Amino acid sequence: MLTFALSKGRLADSIFKMLKELNICDVSIADDDRRLIIESSDGKYRFFLAKPSDVPTFVDYGVADLGVVGKDTILEENRDISEMLDLGFGKCTMCVCGIKGDDSYKNKTTLRVATKYPNIAKNYFESINQNAIVIKLNGSVELAPITNLSDVIVDIVESGRTLKENGLEVKVPIVPLSARLIVNNASLKTKYDEINYIVNNLKNIIKGWSYDKRNWYYKKQKRYRKLL
Ligand code: PRP
Repeated sequence: MLTFALSKGRLADSIFKMLKELNICDVSIADDDRRLIIESSDGKYRFFLAKPSDVPTFVDYGVADLGVVGKDTILEENRDISEMLDLGFGKCTMCVCGIKGDDSYKNKTTLRVATKYPNIAKNYFESINQNAIVIKLNGSVELAPITNLSDVIVDIVESGRTLKENGLEVKVPIVPLSARLIVNNASLKTKYDEINYIVNNLKNIIKGWSYDKRNWYYKKQKRYRKLL
């Protein structure tokens, strides 16, 4: 049996749809489903539905062989896991953002930075030799510069709508993000064939997505995008 740790919500729905499309397994979950462990009907696959930030933990400890999680979480959690595949959905960018038209933050010796991603923020500002006090928030990070809690934020930008509607803008894009397939290092050795089978099948779908925009796969991708 192969065990997956999935981020609850959109990423889990997308991976279930991909596995179904590949005839690998037939799991689907309703919106009001509260189960945290789901098994495929053939008993070959088991899925744990975890909080996104906990997915790398389940995979690191070997409780799950595989995981599907955003690159943001991989960078933030910095667990001992291997990244196998960029799944090509859930695309967004980690950015430094601030008040639109106001670049006064550039003159500060020490920046106050609010974020849900303290490790990513610390690493980034260290890498550019900028002193920063990182303030951890758990959501609605855009409030911080507006209320003067911070000079800037480090946060995910997807459509850019949240920034726009709150008078903010991207100052510096830091890193592009998307959903990734991660694997436990021991499982990669002990269950190599099963894992390789999944990886190769997923790769084929993704390859199709990138290379021929007119083909069947692109239509599928558009469908997945709508579902995200
Ligand atoms: C994320 C992120 C931004 C928003 C970006 O927040 O932290 O706030 O989405 O998306 P957009 O560019 O498409 O507007 P999320 O929806 O996870 O809510 P949260 O702020 O409560 O964490």
